[in-house]
Amino acid sequence: MVNYKDLGLVNTREMFARAIKGGYAIPAFNFNNMEQMQAIIKAAVETKSPVILQVSKGARQYANATLLRYMAQGAVEYAKELGCKHPEIVLHLDHGDTFETCKSCIDSGFSSVMIDGSHLPYEENVALTKKVVDYAHQFDVTVEGELGVLAGVEDEVSAEHHTYTNPEEVIDFATRTGCDSLAISIGTSHGAYKFKPEQCHVDPATGRLVPPPLEFAVLDAVMEKLPGFPIVLHGSSSVPQEEVDTINQFGGKLEAAIGIPEEQLRKAAKSAVCKINIDSDSRLAMTAAVRKVFAEKPAEFDPRKYLGPARDNMEKLYKHKIVNVLGSENKLAQLD
Ligand code: G3H
Ligand code: 13P
Ligand code: ZN
Repeated sequence: MVNYKDLGLVNTREMFARAIKGGYAIPAFNFNNMEQMQAIIKAAVETKSPVILQVSKGARQYANATLLRYMAQGAVEYAKELGCKHPEIVLHLDHGDTFETCKSCIDSGFSSVMIDGSHLPYEENVALTKKVVDYAHQFDVTVEGELGVLAGVEDEVSAEHHTYTNPEEVIDFATRTGCDSLAISIGTSHGAYKFKPEQCHVDPATGRLVPPPLEFAVLDAVMEKLPGFPIVLHGSSSVPQEEVDTINQFGGKLEAAIGIPEEQLRKAAKSAVCKINIDSDSRLAMTAAVRKVFAEKPAEFDPRKYLGPARDNMEKLYKHKIVNVLGSENKLAQLD
């Protein structure tokens, strides 16, 4: 049993309370490898932002759960080495699917877990989430629950269509489960293909496809029912067109990849949305940089020569999100 406090990590409670009050959101970036982790920590340190390092079930399978935990422990020391005296880093399980997975993360030093029972019948979601909360709170680990289903694929949780969160359920869910934050469905979805071109209109100024807006009415209704309660948005990549263009220019084939416009996320971040999940954009930034090196320097075979530029490109992306989209720059509790 390892407690996250001994690793220098923090849970989400205080940072979410500050984010809601301050009208910004905490970035929750997924990581699967060292370069992503380094880029996230460098971006967070340089912008003096709190940050959530999140690990999916797939990431645990890919990289090994123990190694990821030690990497997060290393992340705290790395942040200090980079000059941040009081880093605020959360190690969070993304889309936990069972009580056992959540328990295993809590026992190995995670400071926050998500239990995703959104695909279950309501009462089963309540019971599973409450079971995780009851265990997690013994160790002061915070828990994210989910109500409503995002379109697309959530690890093994799949849904053909959105089922927007029903605002009538949120008080009962939050009260009975005791969860610390709630992920809701308002039109975001996972991956790089969030909308079909036929759902979008063309912006005459840029010629780009503009997707329909998020369902802010659902968010408003949730906030009215649960004033001041931390809300989470999954599936919040914006799918930067320049990264998609670079990938396609250098041999990739991403067709009609469309994300959530950043202005929509900026608007959400000013409300009770205090955690915004971004994974696909980092994958795009990494892939674009690697493809560019491979195309321009075909003789290169030192991984540092293509993973280095990939890391730089991801760092640039993370900083942009923090500064221009989420607004969490300079929001560490102690800035010295
Ligand atoms: O929500 C999904 C995240 O982007 C994690 O994706 O399960 O492929 O690691 P993954
Ligand atoms: P994206 O696929 O939009 O980056 O969403 C990531 C996410 O929600 C992780 O839980
Ligand atoms: Zn997600």
